[in-house]
Amino acid sequence: MKILGIETSCDETGIAIYDSEKGIIADALYSQIELHEEYGGVVPELASRDHVRKAIPLIKQVLAEANCSKEDIDAIAYTKGPGLIGALFVGVGVGRSLAYAWDIPAIGVHHMEGHLLAPLLEDDKPEYPFVALLVSGGHTLLVDVQDLGQYTILGESIDDAAGEAFDKTAKIMGLGYPGGPAIAKLALKGRPGIYKLPRPMTDRPGLEFSFSGLKTAVANLYMKSDKSEQALADIAYAFQEAVVDTIFIKCRRAIEQVFEQNQQVGRNLRPAISALRPSLVVAGGVSANISLREKLSELLESKGGKAYYPRPKFCTDNGAMIAYAGFARYQAVLEGIGEFEEPAIRAKPRWPIEEL
Ligand code: KG4
Ligand code: ZN
Repeated sequence: MKILGIETSCDETGIAIYDSEKGIIADALYSQIELHEEYGGVVPELASRDHVRKAIPLIKQVLAEANCSKEDIDAIAYTKGPGLIGALFVGVGVGRSLAYAWDIPAIGVHHMEGHLLAPLLEDDKPEYPFVALLVSGGHTLLVDVQDLGQYTILGESIDDAAGEAFDKTAKIMGLGYPGGPAIAKLALKGRPGIYKLPRPMTDRPGLEFSFSGLKTAVANLYMKSDKSEQALADIAYAFQEAVVDTIFIKCRRAIEQVFEQNQQVGRNLRPAISALRPSLVVAGGVSANISLREKLSELLESKGGKAYYPRPKFCTDNGAMIAYAGFARYQAVLEGIGEFEEPAIRAKPRWPIEEL
């Protein structure tokens, strides 16, 4: 079975084909970063217009790359939400219309479910159940994942998302957009212990996050610093360390909580292996961060479990994760779980993952 995936929820046009036997057989990504860079963030109207320009040419490109014609495609998966409404509508419109013309099913995918399932595209993949940390530009979520579509939110950010904190901090420091890769690069030259920033909401119980105070703390450091390259690197280091530590503490709590619960109520009776070993799936743009990966992998190892990540290019928005999530949903329908939606052009800019 071959699924064409279309992602247009924000500033990346991502198109890919997932083959149930071979995995991802073609993928293409057009990033609009240059378009939005001068504004320091995504301009929704410009994003929508650019998706219009890129979606069809990229679909033709991946079909050619995969040596496929339209007859080879069994279904089309597109991002239905959450995201920017105008940007979403491009993918929804193109996906639904092509599926109608080709007379195949169309599947509206939840963008965060796409991120959540992206590590399942790897050879070394997690088995359900697992805890998922979704850290992107728009969301910071800890999710108890019992199975496909069985999601309970354990905690989320009460203000800025983790990626948003990277982006806003980078903006304050004049590092450009998007901020995550720029801060991570600069932090490599930073020295530990020069600055100490708070680890928000870690001094009380709970799994909620708050990152908006960090950018104010960084702004103060930045104003007082001599703005030399070394000072900027030291601030970037302290900021990244604070975000990573905060996420580490919350993940440790979440794993302990869920693992305990699972064992108590005997929910975790599926594969014996995952009953004994906690798994953490880390996905979304910020999961590309090397320092975060190192700390979380150590954490899971110390618990006798394992952390799973998508390959770096599938951490940020892409079509492959949407094609794969579409496949998982298609398969569920074949197994009698859920059904295909009626053929309507619908996008959901806000869409809680627990509704799935
Ligand atoms: O998942 P994504 O591509 O888009 C959303 O769904 O939001 O995530 C983009 C976010 C941006 O905030 C970007 O700064 C952040 O991911 N990001 C990173 C890194 N690479 C991307 N943050 C920290 N370290 C990175 N290496
Ligand atoms: Zn995303």
